[in-house]
Amino acid sequence: MNSIRLRTLPQLLLALFLTFAGTQHAAAQQAGAGDVNKTGVVPGATDGATAAIAVDPAAAGGGGGDAAAIAAGDALFKNNCAQCHAVNEVVVGPALSGITKRRTISWLIPWIKNSSKVVASGDEYAVAIYNKYNKQQMPSFALSDKEVTSILAWVTSQEGAAPTAGGVTAGNAAATDGTAADAGAEAGAGKYVDILLIVLVVVLIVLVVTLVIIGNLMKDVLRGRKDLDGRDVEILEQRFDWSKMYRSPMLRGIVGAVFGIVLVYAGVQSVMAVGLSQGYQPTQPIAFSHKLHAGEHQINCAYCHTSVYKSKSANIPSANICMNCHSQIKTESPEIKKIYRAIERKQPIQWVRVHNLPDLAYFNHSQHTQVAGLQCQTCHGPIQNMEVVYQYSALTMGWCINCHREMPVNAKDNAYYDNLVKLHDTKNAGAPFTVSSNGGTECSKCHY
Ligand code: HEC
Ligand code: HEC
Ligand code: HEC
Ligand code: HEC
Ligand code: HEC
Ligand code: HEC
Repeated sequence: MNSIRLRTLPQLLLALFLTFAGTQHAAAQQAGAGDVNKTGVVPGATDGATAAIAVDPAAAGGGGGDAAAIAAGDALFKNNCAQCHAVNEVVVGPALSGITKRRTISWLIPWIKNSSKVVASGDEYAVAIYNKYNKQQMPSFALSDKEVTSILAWVTSQEGAAPTAGGVTAGNAAATDGTAADAGAEAGAGKYVDILLIVLVVVLIVLVVTLVIIGNLMKDVLRGRKDLDGRDVEILEQRFDWSKMYRSPMLRGIVGAVFGIVLVYAGVQSVMAVGLSQGYQPTQPIAFSHKLHAGEHQINCAYCHTSVYKSKSANIPSANICMNCHSQIKTESPEIKKIYRAIERKQPIQWVRVHNLPDLAYFNHSQHTQVAGLQCQTCHGPIQNMEVVYQYSALTMGWCINCHREMPVNAKDNAYYDNLVKLHDTKNAGAPFTVSSNGGTECSKCHY
């Protein structure tokens, strides 16, 4: 009687384990199959592209007028938009793939010419996307309607192409599939990690169950024997003893070591962290508000930071610049009185520095604002909305280099670049002429 009960226990466990492992295996396979389907869209999309080219040669630039428009759009895009947009990738602004399906031409033309006006008009979509991109204002462009349409024609011609292969022309029909495939591949990658974790957990559970089964089988064998000595009986009657485990020096050692490793790891992570001082927002001696001055009153950044387009550093304005206005405006305010006091004492206002690269790195503002034509907000974030300035970007080496890898050089109207760009284009057909193609990731460019 007793022995029957004991025999069934391991069998029961074994059966449980087998069904469990079976269902998990099936589930994993199913998930795997789903994954294959998802990523399988990628080759599908290329098929779609070739099919579309075959069916609709006009989309690939068959009509002479179209081809000219697309070529013009290509150049206009590279010179005006590429610093913030790509067709199939989010850069500073959204990916433009499928834009002519999301929005009508009559919406797009005013948006591209002056997006802040469209946002200010209260247009629901415009406000939503403006907020989604942290209220970063897209600059206004003095482009003609025809120029805007040719940019859009070029964008449409690039939809669905792989983000790096800039020159590949894919048909319209593939566009939506293409973006779906990108998203699918991304989701697929995330899912893959999940599946791996599930499989690991399952393997661990299976291991534990197997060990319990083996333990029980061995006890069973012992019980079956008549000639048990004291030690065997002890094992048979053994109960799990928590207090013993708690006192075990080995276990304490292991727990201690794991804890120590986690602490050290967390410490190293926080020291190496991306952006040691990202978000740094010191209190300033005078409650000067960029939101009020640059935002509401729309005072140009360069009115105060006069050297930002001309030299390496952007200067912090002296009290005299404040006095241009504050000799008349708000003269009674206690905060403004602090400006007067600084001038009387002939001492500069002790502004606390927010951004500060280490001396070993060379950064030049005019190279980025004047030559590259970057907006302040690309690096400093929505300053015009900041009551108190904070460090928006990480300012790490990785941050500089990532942008240099992706950002095309602003070669428009710059004869210096003409030959370089030509040389680059013949060598790397289609790939954009980025800052790094021009040597912008060489150590010596940023380190003396
Ligand atoms: C300095 C960066 C910057 C530049 C340059 C720029 N954009 Fe934008 N663009 C943005 C941002 C940011 C948004 C998101 C909306 C917002 O925050 O205003 C955006 C949004 C858009 C949208 C709406 C996208 C959508 O998904 O609805 C279109 C269309 C667009 N830009 C076209 C262009 C074109 C065309 C050019 C070149 C002529 C251009 N942009 C240049 C930053 C930029
Ligand atoms: C009316 C003058 C004025 C205008 C206009 C102005 N700023 Fe400033 N800015 C200052 C002063 C004063 C400081 C120093 C105090 C502070 O950090 O708030 C400063 C600080 C900064 C800093 C932080 C500097 C540091 O310590 O690292 C940045 C970045 C900045 N401004 C960017 C901008 C941008 C971008 C604009 C335009 C959107 C702008 N400023 C417009 C006066 C001005
Ligand atoms: C181009 C004109 C202009 C310049 C230059 C200027 N301001 Fe202002 N400032 C204004 C205006 C306009 C107001 C808003 C006054 C109001 O709310 O009535 C203002 C308000 C302020 C206030 C808020 C005062 C209060 O008590 O409400 C402070 C503080 C201030 N400015 C500091 C500065 C400092 C510091 C500088 C120099 C770095 C400076 N401003 C440069 C135009 C200017
Ligand atoms: C490519 C990124 C980038 C752009 C674009 C940019 N900045 Fe900066 N800015 C920086 C970095 C990096 C620093 C820190 C420089 C340092 O510590 O040497 C900085 C520092 C500053 C400072 C503090 C003074 C200084 O030079 O160290 C001010 C003020 C400033 N920026 C204003 C501006 C304004 C105004 C614009 C737009 C006209 C602008 N920046 C555009 C990256 C940028
Ligand atoms: C948002 C993009 C962006 C970021 C961030 C950025 N850069 Fe640049 N940088 C550019 C562009 C675009 C150019 C090319 C300008 C031109 O046309 O010559 C450039 C050019 C340069 C050059 C000259 C390279 C050459 O080939 O002559 C140096 C040096 C440089 N950057 C340093 C830095 C450093 C240091 C940082 C980080 C603190 C930084 N940059 C962050 C966009 C960026
Ligand atoms: C586009 C500009 C840029 C280029 C190119 C670049 N660096 Fe840097 N590097 C920086 C900046 C900015 C920092 C400061 C980062 C910080 O303070 O977090 C830095 C920091 C460093 C540091 C110090 C790290 C520390 O924690 O103090 C070393 C070492 C370094 N870089 C080596 C290199 C080497 C080697 C290369 C060439 C392979 C290189 N850098 C290329 C911009 C650059």
